[in-house]
Amino acid sequence: MSLPRNALRSPFDPEMRDYVQVLVDEQDALVDRMELYAKERDFPIIGRDAGRWLELLTKMIGAKRVLEIGAGFGYSAFFFARGVGPDGHVRGIERNDYEILGFEVLFAGHPLADRIAIEAGEGRDVLGEEAEWDVIFVDAEKEEYAELLALAVPRLRPGGLVLFDNALWGGRVVEDAADSATEGVQRFNEALFAHPELDAHILPAGDGLAVGRKRG
Ligand SMILES: C[S@@+](CC[C@H](N)C(=O)[O-])C[C@H]1O[C@@H](n2cnc3c(N)ncnc32)[C@H](O)[C@@H]1O
Repeated sequence: MSLPRNALRSPFDPEMRDYVQVLVDEQDALVDRMELYAKERDFPIIGRDAGRWLELLTKMIGAKRVLEIGAGFGYSAFFFARGVGPDGHVRGIERNDYEILGFEVLFAGHPLADRIAIEAGEGRDVLGEEAEWDVIFVDAEKEEYAELLALAVPRLRPGGLVLFDNALWGGRVVEDAADSATEGVQRFNEALFAHPELDAHILPAGDGLAVGRKRG
């Protein structure tokens, strides 16, 4: 059976994504280098589509203090660093020292490097510290998502954003036979939308970018 003539094509359709990427016309060669580095190692990064949203959302709320849990080698931090501007700061937390080394090598001499610090640590420990952030971005183990959400919201300023990658988890969120990671994402999504202090939605960017804005 053919599709109705007015059927919408999915924004996840590769051709649609390519179309938008041509419009974006990313100029910074570090983005290409980081994408190649990720591809060679089969390392999951958020991608330019969602990266663009990170930058835009950061600018939209005038964020200057960004915390990332699961920073990897700094691909997503790059977009936040552009978003916060010259007087802003991105603090990334990463449990794997090898990724931190990758960050140091890739960003050496780049003008955005002095806006980013990626340090060794565990998400739940850092979210236990007394601090106030404009944006908290989580791209960590999916089983930990609901717990990290509960810890993150008290650390946000009113009007601040929690952002979580992989909210659609490659489509597995709508399948029955759930593994622990999929269950983790499903539990997180339910907690996000039910959270009494947040207005939330999932952007159709990357692998689904969950956004929660703290009320007040
Ligand atoms: C998907 S990758 C992050 C990619 C990165 N956000 C990007 O787009 O460039 C996830 C990273 O989070 C780290 N990680 C996972 N859970 C963590 C946690 N609870 N605390 C700190 N790091 C964590 C892993 O070591 C891994 O490097």
